[in-house]
Amino acid sequence: MAKLFVLARIIISCIALTGCLTPNAFAAKEVEVLHWWTSGSEAKAVNILKMMMRQQGIQWKDFAVPGGAGESAMTVLKSRAISGNPPAAAQIKGPALQEWASLGFLSNLDDVAQAQHWDQLIPKPIARIMKYHGHYIAVPVNIHRTNWLWINRKIFAAVHAQAPTTWPEFFQVAKKLKAAGYVVLAQGNQDWQNTTLFESIALTTLGKQGYRQAFIALDPKTLDSPKMVQAFELFQKLRPYLQSPDAGQAWNQATAEVINNKAAMQITGDWANGEFLAAGPKVTNNIDCVPVPGTQGDFIYSVDSFAMFQLSEPADIGAQRALARTIMSKTFQRRFNQIKGSIPIRPHLSMQGFDDCSRKAHRAFAKSLADKSLLPSVAHGMATTSYVQSAILDVVNHFINDPSAKPQQAAARLMRVVLAAS
Ligand code: GAL
Repeated sequence: MAKLFVLARIIISCIALTGCLTPNAFAAKEVEVLHWWTSGSEAKAVNILKMMMRQQGIQWKDFAVPGGAGESAMTVLKSRAISGNPPAAAQIKGPALQEWASLGFLSNLDDVAQAQHWDQLIPKPIARIMKYHGHYIAVPVNIHRTNWLWINRKIFAAVHAQAPTTWPEFFQVAKKLKAAGYVVLAQGNQDWQNTTLFESIALTTLGKQGYRQAFIALDPKTLDSPKMVQAFELFQKLRPYLQSPDAGQAWNQATAEVINNKAAMQITGDWANGEFLAAGPKVTNNIDCVPVPGTQGDFIYSVDSFAMFQLSEPADIGAQRALARTIMSKTFQRRFNQIKGSIPIRPHLSMQGFDDCSRKAHRAFAKSLADKSLLPSVAHGMATTSYVQSAILDVVNHFINDPSAKPQQAAARLMRVVLAAS
């Protein structure tokens, strides 16, 4: 809260002194877009949007900031916004959208939303995130599922193993794989990658209700509970199977280890599927996708979205509106998501032409949507404010990097830092 206040003060004085949002900041018929889609498949997917904008006579000014889950992108965005020069559109997700909107940065997209009937197209729990005080301030792009276990079939066949459905089975297979010299779980040692793994583990020990209590309601008793301690214990048990040669390895380098038959598994969102798809059928035929043990039937989601910053030139505003309209179009939704590994934001679009893993995700999403059991990703900023999210990432990351860390202390620390950040 304190950080938010400081940011708000800086912004207010910036607007008062210099007039942050100068009218001619952008050339006509140009849209500058901040995103972090820089891996092979991500870049290929975003090219669809660039091309569709170009077809409408709008130049795409690329503002790509590499770094998985957008951590670096958000830092760069804050400094651009504070200096009064935000891009026309930026990839911002989850409750952070509300933070930006409450500071008065974002543009109201209701005109496009009404013309395209977004309320009918976007599932309600997702539409809620895209609105501030009942008005659309962002356009959703896709739906990713984070609780996936990706399996290299060839490696599993070599050690005569089956896809694990429980954690005891997982550890049996892990032992075999390690003994045979394989990297068991491809994983880069970055806070968001570690937390993507941890959130699935926490779901298995806490259950859906406990997950919500801990990470949405921020209930101190659930954060520092025996079940949370169990989650840290399980996470610690995984430690010997996680080691990757390069500590800061990017997620797509980890995925490349699965592709190149070095690593047997990866637990991460279906952006990994984008990399498998980009590598071609020889690779996709060798990959199996199953839910993380103990999360069968559960759907932890991460929804990518673009927020539009307030601009004053009509031509610039027109280009922004065209961007929002294009993102919601059927053509974009199909073409982009078939490359990205995610599923369309419009649940009623046909999944013909999508790969098997995306179809599985689509079915799991429909079921969780109907059951009202969708769960927001903590690691990908869907569950809490950006401040609480950073606090959680920090605790989880410290824990997995400290060989002598104590699960009980980690749960107590998690409770303390979450309370302090909320
Ligand atoms: C997620 C985002 C995905 C993908 C992934 C890796 O936060 O939802 O679109 O980019 O990070 O960077």
